[in-house]
Amino acid sequence: VKRSKVLFSDDLPEKFDFENSILLFDKILLQRHGKWIQRFPRNLPLRSGESLKDIGKFPTTMRNIVEFSEGLPAKQIKIVSFGGGSVGDFAGFVASVLKRGVTLIHIPSTWLAAMDSSHGGKNAMNVASLKNQLGTFYPAKEIHLVKKVLTHLPEKHLRQSLGEYYKIALIDGGQLWRRASSKPSLNSEWIWRELPLMIKGKMKVVERDFNESKGIRHILNLGHTTGHILEGKLGLSHGESVLFGLRFSYEFGRRLRLTKNIPDLEWMLPPKKDLSAKLRQAGDPLSFLAQDKKLSKNGKVRFIFFNTPGKPLIRELPLSQIAQEWKRQSQ
Ligand SMILES: NC(=O)c1ccc[n+]([C@@H]2O[C@H](COP(=O)([O-])OP(=O)(O)OC[C@H]3O[C@@H](n4cnc5c(N)ncnc54)[C@H](O)[C@@H]3O)[C@@H](O)[C@H]2O)c1
Ligand SMILES: [Zn+2]
Repeated sequence: VKRSKVLFSDDLPEKFDFENSILLFDKILLQRHGKWIQRFPRNLPLRSGESLKDIGKFPTTMRNIVEFSEGLPAKQIKIVSFGGGSVGDFAGFVASVLKRGVTLIHIPSTWLAAMDSSHGGKNAMNVASLKNQLGTFYPAKEIHLVKKVLTHLPEKHLRQSLGEYYKIALIDGGQLWRRASSKPSLNSEWIWRELPLMIKGKMKVVERDFNESKGIRHILNLGHTTGHILEGKLGLSHGESVLFGLRFSYEFGRRLRLTKNIPDLEWMLPPKKDLSAKLRQAGDPLSFLAQDKKLSKNGKVRFIFFNTPGKPLIRELPLSQIAQEWKRQSQ
């Protein structure tokens, strides 16, 4: 497995191969980082979000990118993503197929991308309303985490990153969990300082199962089976959906006696009644569950629980059992 180099810095890199790069960036960044963006002779502004990952729109964007690439020696081309997880997923996919693979560099501009999506080498595209149905394993060569970019993010981004933060803390169970459960004031400085531990926590799992072939990497899907349904059906942010998904797994696990009581989760996760309301609003999950790409051979879903922090569990469950639990928790 090729390891990505993770570089922490205060400001956007001064020394950079601007000439051989194709910058794919979230156009929202023009306002604050326009000057740096203009240093790339080849830069393509993109509108972020799930529609960017829509494979139906891929040919149009790809035409621009291929035009850019024509002036460059194939071996030198670098695809640089500057944006959140949607831009990163899109750029990662592009880099993996353009000329059968060119160098990929991520500069995440959201907390979610900085702590999670830019690491681990997965990218993904959507097919109609079905998320992440296409993708490749293609790790970035470098990931630049830039303090100036991240600490300026509006407050709501911090809240939207908590789902992945608590997820990885629950999976890791060590120092990361101890720090997350110490009731820190969750401001930018705190999350910035936690990034190295979070990334290490994720990469510990990824490196044991890069291709997701041994069933280990599935544990990173904690909170995501339910989360993706809420995200898809209600349009909630990814991070918020994962927070609800963690609550779902916690309640489900305790009912099955797989999960111990973890009092800190009461203040970390959204209250039960808020989850109930969302589940009711989303309605029947079956059609979404049936599309879940984590369906295992015998038509069951690999559902992720945890016993205690640091002890994630995988259980293969029939769709009907999850749908039943969904109904139960809706009430
Ligand atoms: N590949 C993976 O391993 C992986 C893991 C987790 C999530 N994801 C994917 O990541 C996506 C979610 O990530 P996201 O929330 O970062 O998505 P996003 O790219 O849609 O960004 C969220 C919002 O933040 C805005 N934004 C970005 N940078 C900003 C900045 N510096 N200041 C102000 N606003 C800014 C965007 O314009 C957008 O409105 C989903 O598509 C999800 O499937 C992928
Ligand atoms: Zn996620």
